[in-house]
Amino acid sequence: MLNKLILNIEQAKEKINKNIYGHFAEHLGRCIYEGFWVGEDSEIPNTRGIRNDVIEALREINIPVLRWPGGCFADEYHWKDGVGPREERTTIVNNHWGGVTENNHFGTHEFMDLCDLLDTEPYISGNLGSGTIREMQEWVDYMTHDGESPMSDWRKENGRKEPWDLKYFGVGNENWGCGGNMRPEYYADKYKNYQTYINDHGDNKIFKIACGSHDSNYHWTEVLMEEAADKMDGLSLHYYTVPGDEWENKGSATDFDQNEWYITLKKAMYMDELITKHSTIMDKYDPEKKVALIVDEWGTWYDVEPGTNPGFLYQQNTLRDALVAGIHLNIFNQHADRVKMANIAQTANVLQAMVLTDEEDMIVTPTYYVFKMFKVHQEALQIPIYLETEKYKEIPKLSVSASKNEQGEVNITICNLDPENEAKIETVINAIKANEVEAKILSSDNLNDHNTFENPDKVKPEGFDKFSMEGQKLVGEIPSSSVVLLTLKK
Ligand code: AHR
Repeated sequence: MLNKLILNIEQAKEKINKNIYGHFAEHLGRCIYEGFWVGEDSEIPNTRGIRNDVIEALREINIPVLRWPGGCFADEYHWKDGVGPREERTTIVNNHWGGVTENNHFGTHEFMDLCDLLDTEPYISGNLGSGTIREMQEWVDYMTHDGESPMSDWRKENGRKEPWDLKYFGVGNENWGCGGNMRPEYYADKYKNYQTYINDHGDNKIFKIACGSHDSNYHWTEVLMEEAADKMDGLSLHYYTVPGDEWENKGSATDFDQNEWYITLKKAMYMDELITKHSTIMDKYDPEKKVALIVDEWGTWYDVEPGTNPGFLYQQNTLRDALVAGIHLNIFNQHADRVKMANIAQTANVLQAMVLTDEEDMIVTPTYYVFKMFKVHQEALQIPIYLETEKYKEIPKLSVSASKNEQGEVNITICNLDPENEAKIETVINAIKANEVEAKILSSDNLNDHNTFENPDKVKPEGFDKFSMEGQKLVGEIPSSSVVLLTLKK
């Protein structure tokens, strides 16, 4: 069968918020410590303690926004312990993740420095679960107050004269679980209470993000929207792709068969239904779509790599993860009217990571390359599409999204989920005359191929020439188990 795609370019009007390509870095395992922070005295080349190889790699994928310090860690984090001279900082036990003791050397100043080095916007998750209102208020004051005040004076004493620009602030994380085991009614009240004391200073305007639901907990969304929609800018949603049916047996990151491949991709496609249903509830209370849906945790979650600390969530990343990333990013692009930010979990050494480090070595993952290919969609206009696709078992064989950038170029990202069969596709391009097609592909010989420290380039994108223009039609073939980027130039 021929798959058919129609691009209604003249109807493109919704901007794809670049923050859909956001990331998340928690104090968890080797994400912050080792993944980013090695300290100024480390032999690993670094800038003020942050490793250079990771900065350089991440700058290539244009990270627009970075969420920190958690995750579950956020509702146990007391920010005052992490500012001031490093040798005087108190330690903290990371109860959620391995029970390890941290020296608090990576705190607010170091995170803001990381954001500067990456040229990314900070998104801070505040502590509602175990922190006080005053503590949360003072953190925002510390970061953003531009006049004379106890907190801005303290910031200056600690070496930072100017306030930072801080837009995104989360009022708690997973407060239905690790963030305090609350009922939505109770959290909604607490949210309204805490957010009252988050102040805008000078030109800095805080975008307040309330803790949202996970998976299909639609009741949480309903209650939060009914009770507090007028007091929030964003509501979060968390969903992880876990192939196994039991938490104790999530499945291996690298050792899987075709059936697990299928189950994983089917579960990744479920994100579309989740967003549709949560958005429908949001529409009921907010038809003008003033409140953004912020998918601030998503990605694959497998059993940890054998021999590693179970609390550190270190996992490898194969071609399967590339497909999961491509599917999610296509879904987010398609829901650009409501989804204004998404943050993959997590950037380094944890869950579906971009980079993996081993002391002084660093490699990038297949997921990293998907972000690199898809960055063309950032701030481009989403093109409404009509797709007629074959099926791969019970799910669509193809996942697609498309956008038009300021130069008038059209970018189409297509995933072929089928592990065995290519997909012939004919694309009708309305409203532009394209003369040139450029294509890139990410695929590999085996479904579980991945990059290792011994073989870092096993999976990486390549040029691709299986497409051509036939009048107003773009005709070609998407190989099995691949992610393809097509760029149409005038
Ligand atoms: O990303 C790992 C954990 O997953 C986060 O700490 C938590 O918010 C979620 O349950």
